[in-house]
Amino acid sequence: MFKFDFGIEDDGTEPLQAETAPPEVLQSEPFAELSLSQLLESLPPLISYSPLLIPLSSSRKSVTLARRDLFDARFQLISEGHGDEPPVDTPAPTSTSALGFLDAPSDLVPGVYEGGLKTWECSLDLVGYLDSFRDADSSYFSGKRVLEVGCGTGIPSVYLLSYLFSENSNVNAHVHMQDYNASVLELITFPNIILAWYMSPSSAAYRAAAADEECPPGDPTIPGELTITPALKSAFTASIAKLGISLAFFSGPWEGLTTYLKSSVETKHDLVLTSETIYRTEALPALIQLLHQACADAQSRPLCLVAAKVLYFGVGGGVSEFVRALRSKDMVDKGSSGTAESVWERKVGVGRKIMRIDWV
Ligand SMILES: C[S@@+](CC[C@H](N)C(=O)[O-])C[C@H]1O[C@@H](n2cnc3c(N)ncnc32)[C@H](O)[C@@H]1O
Repeated sequence: MFKFDFGIEDDGTEPLQAETAPPEVLQSEPFAELSLSQLLESLPPLISYSPLLIPLSSSRKSVTLARRDLFDARFQLISEGHGDEPPVDTPAPTSTSALGFLDAPSDLVPGVYEGGLKTWECSLDLVGYLDSFRDADSSYFSGKRVLEVGCGTGIPSVYLLSYLFSENSNVNAHVHMQDYNASVLELITFPNIILAWYMSPSSAAYRAAAADEECPPGDPTIPGELTITPALKSAFTASIAKLGISLAFFSGPWEGLTTYLKSSVETKHDLVLTSETIYRTEALPALIQLLHQACADAQSRPLCLVAAKVLYFGVGGGVSEFVRALRSKDMVDKGSSGTAESVWERKVGVGRKIMRIDWV
């Protein structure tokens, strides 16, 4: 196992190191769809959270989302009896390995854990870029079918949902999220969605009816603890049904989701998002095939965005390798290939880009 410096910052302050292993990748997580009821069932009785401030270039300057604390996820695993688990180099999926990764959440172990517990900085770039569409059209996210690939903490989707939860009529939106690790979806991604809902006007009736001690302020800029009650779960389920928001969650390797989409009746997406997923060159074909499949059947040009560092030091992955793979004729079905247009760029320090992908 060797280390490389991703130059990642979690909350804008702490540069992190990430670990990876040699390229013989053993995929230990099977492909699975996690149902909403399964995810609601896996919520702990209490979620603690802290504000995540995301800078924007629009007149709003910034947006703040509530994000579940990592220490709280760790506490959940320990209290559920996952405290005496084998070391992280044992390729064991789900909560078994999650406890080990929570202690070193930036360390990637290919095919076992892919870094989803932490928020990586390009996901914040993606929020800033998406916000420019909403700035131009405040109901931009309504009516969209969205897929976030390799979502981890899911900040771009959570941002988008936070606006959908603020609408007061049916928004007819689909937000589908994929992460390699089911435990990441259970421990962090889904709790972050619950928090976005709780902080939105959609939870107003629940907040008015619930006991004071169960209701922290509906303000994501204040850290707090949210009590998860059966009434909260029912109110959340009723809210998303009323708003016409369909949520779906997938875990496991990208190949599994591509196969799933190929056999699904409704596969078109209007927005396909991914951030910090191009670091490993050997995984690029599976990622590109998934992005291509997710964009298939769209009636109008889908917005497919890849946010990434220009170079992931030490492993050879980065924008150039991704673009080379994208242009390769044999990469996707029927001999077609992809093109990448840079739509946003930051050149200071480790360069970062957002690319818009099209298929020819
Ligand atoms: C470095 S994390 C980035 C997480 C998040 N997008 C962010 O920017 O904060 C990479 C993500 O890609 C996903 N991933 C990486 N390789 C994968 C693979 N071969 N199959 C499925 N998912 C993979 C993992 O789920 C992981 O969450």
